[in-house]
Parts: sequence; C-alpha cells; structure tokens
Amino acid sequence: MAEVGSPEATEPAAAVEAPAASDGTARPPLEIEILTLFPGMFTGPLGESIPGRVQTRGLAVVRVHDLRQWGMGRHKTVDDYTYGGGAGMVLRPEPVAEALDVLRRPDSTVILPDPGGEVFAQPRAHDLAERSHLIILCPRYEGVDERIRSMVDLELSIGDYVLSGGEIPALVMVDTIMRLLPGAIDAESTAEESFTSGLLEYPQYTRPAEFRGVTVPSTLTSGHHEAVRKWRLKEALRRTLGRRPELLEGRALTKEEAKLMGEVRAEVRAEAADLEGNDTGSAAK
Ligand code: ADE
Repeated sequence: MAEVGSPEATEPAAAVEAPAASDGTARPPLEIEILTLFPGMFTGPLGESIPGRVQTRGLAVVRVHDLRQWGMGRHKTVDDYTYGGGAGMVLRPEPVAEALDVLRRPDSTVILPDPGGEVFAQPRAHDLAERSHLIILCPRYEGVDERIRSMVDLELSIGDYVLSGGEIPALVMVDTIMRLLPGAIDAESTAEESFTSGLLEYPQYTRPAEFRGVTVPSTLTSGHHEAVRKWRLKEALRRTLGRRPELLEGRALTKEEAKLMGEVRAEVRAEAADLEGNDTGSAAK
C-alpha cells in the first residue's frame, strides 16, 4: 500500500491535524482507498495541483493498494475466462472479497466504476465529499464477475463511453470530490461554478481589456457589483439555454432568473430574425 500525494504528504492520517470546519469543529480527513492493478497510474495525477495540496493540508488521505496482493496462487491470479465463452477475461470475485474483508469498515462506501452505473455528476460528488471513507475498486479486463456487484454500494459511470479500466474514472471522481472538501479551494469558487447552481458558469475575462479587437464587456470593468452579479446570472442562463437546455428542465427559476431568461430569449429571437433577414437579403441579390 502506498500513500499518494506530493512527496512531503506521506504522513499517516492520524499525524495530520484535522482542519476546522465552518462550524468550528474539526473534520477528520476524508480517507480514500483505491484498489487497482496499476498503482502507478495514480502517482502523478494525485500528487500535483489541488489533489496534492488537499493531501498535504490533511483534508484527505489517499491509499493505493495493489489488488494483486490478494491474487490467487503462485501467480497471484485475479482474472479468469468467462463462463459460456466469449472474448476477454473477467475479474474474479475472491481477490476483491478478500481485499474488502481487510479494508471495509462500518463507515465505508464501496464504489465500482462501471459504464453501466449511475452517471457521476456534481450532486453525487457533493454527497461523497461528506462521507468519511471511500473504497474505489478499479476493474480491468472485460468486466467483473457479476457477484462482485453485490459487494459494492455504488456503481458509477463517468459518461457514455468505455475506457480500458476503472483507474481514470476513479481519478475523475477523486479529483472532483477532493476539490469540494472544506478548505480545498475558495468556497466561493465551488458555490458559483458550473453545475453547483444547476447552471453552466458565466463567461470570465482577465487582462488585457482588449485582445485582437475583442473587448471585455463594459459591465465587468464598471466596478458596479450589483450590475456585475446580474450580468453573470444572465450570461449563465444564456449559456445554459444555448448549450445544455436540458439542465433547465427540472430547475425552477427564481423571479429574477425568470425575468433575465425572458430577456435572453427575446435577444436570441432578435438575433435569429436578424440572421434570417441577412440571409434573405443575400439570397435575393
Ligand atoms: N470503465 C470503463 N468505462 C467506464 C466509464 N465510462 N465509467 C466508469 N467506469 C468505466
């Protein structure tokens, strides 16, 4: 077993002082166990940037376990042919059961990345960030013996495509969860970002104020906080309507949002009419 993190983040969880939560109480670090046949895949991604810092600060502890240590026989076998025939190998249940016998605790949530699972989205990430002990089992080969599914609490998919194993999905989940831990990043960033509010994030600009003829919207440089807030909300609505309209379907709009959305729709209609007018004009020539 190896702890992942920046080189200095190898202290055991108990040696790290728990950070204070917003209510003043100390929250113990989120403990994450990863079961994989490729432990090396986690070192880089979890050692750098926010995941690395989260561990150095003691907000989370990640332990990567080589599943092969629970493999069977002299060759530490973990896979076998599928009954009934067919291409590829399947993960056997025994090594997984034995690993879970060692790692599972009463407070554990055991997760199986699987393309047929619940689609992993921001609300689930928030939910998992509040738990205390996650175990992520990363399958390889063509899949897992069906009996493994009854050993896990959650099957999660990161999207409608098939990866060659569960390691990258596990990294996606761990990164998403870690940045939500209190103290990981500025609370304002996670409150305002895409999906948390049910809307896509508004456009952002930095210097220069003009780049290749494109200027920053004047409201953003006005210094008028209320106008900036309204502009951002309206642009978040516009972007969501244009790119991910289905996100708006189950979401009730506040009175202010409904008013801004009315303006957006009117602007979109005017733009479409304008374009149509131009098209007709050029076709008539
Ligand atoms: N394993 C292979 N593809 C996957 C996906 N899309 N999500 C989760 N686990 C997977």
